Amino acid sequence: MFEDVPTAPSDPILGLTEEFVRDPREHKINLSVGVYKDSSGATPILSTVKEAERKLLETETSKGYKPITGDPTYGRLVRELLFGADSELVDGGRAATAHAPGGTGALRVVGDYLKQNHAGVTLWLSEPTWANHPQIFQKAGLPIKTYPYFDKQSNGLSFEPLLDQLRKLGPSDVVLLHACCHNPTGVDPNPQQWEQIASVLAERGVVPIVDFAYQGFGRGLDEDAAGVRLLAKRLPEMFICSSFSKNFGLYNERTGALTVVGKSSAHTAAVFSQLKICIRTNYSNPPAHGGSIVSTILGNPELRARWVEELAGMRNRILQMRQRFVEELKVKAPSAEFGFIADQLGMFSFSGLNREQVERLRTEHAIYIVGSGRINVAGMTADNMVSLTSAIANVL
Ligand code: LMR
Repeated sequence: MFEDVPTAPSDPILGLTEEFVRDPREHKINLSVGVYKDSSGATPILSTVKEAERKLLETETSKGYKPITGDPTYGRLVRELLFGADSELVDGGRAATAHAPGGTGALRVVGDYLKQNHAGVTLWLSEPTWANHPQIFQKAGLPIKTYPYFDKQSNGLSFEPLLDQLRKLGPSDVVLLHACCHNPTGVDPNPQQWEQIASVLAERGVVPIVDFAYQGFGRGLDEDAAGVRLLAKRLPEMFICSSFSKNFGLYNERTGALTVVGKSSAHTAAVFSQLKICIRTNYSNPPAHGGSIVSTILGNPELRARWVEELAGMRNRILQMRQRFVEELKVKAPSAEFGFIADQLGMFSFSGLNREQVERLRTEHAIYIVGSGRINVAGMTADNMVSLTSAIANVL
């Protein structure tokens, strides 16, 4: 049976870390996968997460199964974070949330739902997008197309072409949007552009799936949710895939959520019942631990306030590294223009380095970044900044 099985290509992001681990060079630097590092280069467990875990250790009495869509309390807290505590979508019944194993789990569940319930739907992804997006939806069996997103000339948003493409879509199209801190470019629509996107989607009857993996990593929890909140006000239907890997540092706990918003609570309940089937036939019900941590923190005002501070600490360190990176490159590569990197937001910097330069960084300097030229700014430290920028200047 196994004789003719070809070897699959390695994952464009996680495969690089596998290679990094095998690299014997001591000075190696891994800026590929989107994982936050503190100034000492460690990926710490947040103190609020540790405290929530201590509470759970004392209070948890059972490891019984969670409901298929997880605890309703978790879902409610997720909706508060998404829409704001005073939004009618928190309790009104028009929105429902399933606890999912990471943002990836949530994305796959939507993919399965669309395939199983809406024949003929085409999914539109930004060009470029997170390398895992196309394969998640292709494996779910959906046809994929792309809309323009990044303008290489200005290193900014390719807004008019994006809008032109959206204007050509209709009710059998679903568009995946990044809520903030676009992965891999770090380029987001501004508030006026979000308004225009919302208007076109409303006019054309297009349902968005919003991938929300970096809430709090751009400008702040509420600021980063502005686009999602606007869409939720203007559109009758949408999906939101949340990940708490980054903002709670819960990478290996696979903690995320899938929220559906419908025209009425009856519509939402029907879609939610279908999502339950997709979940039950995929991973049955969600893993509890990460979700319990998030609920413990968000449900306790004192812990929540401390978490907001810890999150701000991570965000500010990334912003400092972004500035420092631009300043160092100005000195080391004065003829190259990298100022645009300071305008990008979130974990990643879309450096503009080409595949050959990325390859040289790896082979000659033991520096690992993603093939698209995406650099994980959250992995930069005062210690690796000099060798990183010298190496970049060298391959330019
Ligand atoms: C990334 O883009 O590096 C992260 O979202 C981690 C992953 O799973 O790819």
